[in-house]
Amino acid sequence: MIESQAVIAIDGPSGVGKSTISRKIARALGFTYLDTGAMYRAVGLFLQWNRIDLCDDQAMRTSLAKIQIQLLPGKNEDDDTGVLLNGEDVSGAIRTPEMAMIASKVSANPLVREKLTALQRELGNSGGVVAEGRDTGTVVFPRARFKFFLDARPEERARRRVRQLRMRGETADEQEILEMTLLRDKNDRERAIAPLRQAEDARIIDTTSRSIDEVARLVLEVVLEERTETTDPREDHIQPAG
Ligand code: DC
Repeated sequence: MIESQAVIAIDGPSGVGKSTISRKIARALGFTYLDTGAMYRAVGLFLQWNRIDLCDDQAMRTSLAKIQIQLLPGKNEDDDTGVLLNGEDVSGAIRTPEMAMIASKVSANPLVREKLTALQRELGNSGGVVAEGRDTGTVVFPRARFKFFLDARPEERARRRVRQLRMRGETADEQEILEMTLLRDKNDRERAIAPLRQAEDARIIDTTSRSIDEVARLVLEVVLEERTETTDPREDHIQPAG
C-alpha cells in the first residue's frame, strides 16, 4: 500500500524550478528526492539507442522488460539526479534539450507509463519522499499528503532553461528554447494518459517572479504548519532533518 502521508508531490511544466525546489525540500526534511522525469529520459534514451518503434507493442514490451533504472542522488544540492541505465552512467546524456523532447514523446506511451508508474510507486512506497514530475499528485501518488503545482509564464521558463544550458557551457537560442518549451507543454498536457494537470487538491504556486528560495520556503511553511496542526501519528515522517 502506498504510504500517502509521507509523500510530497510536486508537479508542473518544465522550467518552473521543480527540480531545484524539490531537492531543497527533500534535503530540509531528510526525505528522498524522486526525479520521475529522469526516468522518462532514461527510457527515451534506451528506445532511441535501440531504434525501437513506439507503435510496435511487442518490441516495446521486450525492450521495457530489459530496462533497469537506478537513480543516483546528486552529490551537491545543485546537482541533477544521476541515472544508471542498465548499469551505464547516462546522467549527462539524458540532460539535453533533444532528450527532453524524446522523453516527452515516449512518456505518452501507455506501456512506458505503466512500467515507470509501478517503479515510482515502489520507490515511494516506504514514504519520506518528495516526488517531482507531471503526474505525481494525480496518478502516481493520488493520496499524497501534500500536493503542489508550480507554474510560471512560458517566456520566463524558457529564459531559465537558456540560463541553465549556458551555465553548462552549451549554446542556447532563446526563441528556439521557447518554441520547444511550448511544444513540450502541449505534448505533456494533451496526451491521453496521465496528462500534465494540477490535482484538484494541489496548492498552486506561480514561480514567475519568485526566487527558488522563496518558493521552497512557501512549500516548507505549508508542510511544517500542517504537521503541527495534526495529531495523526502517521504524519510523524514530516519533520525537519537535523
Ligand atoms: O521533468 P523533465 O523535464 O525531466 O521531464 C521530461 C519529460 O518526461 C516531460 O516532458 C514529460 C515526461 N514526464 C512525464 O510524462 N511524467 C512525469 N511524471 C515526469 C516526466
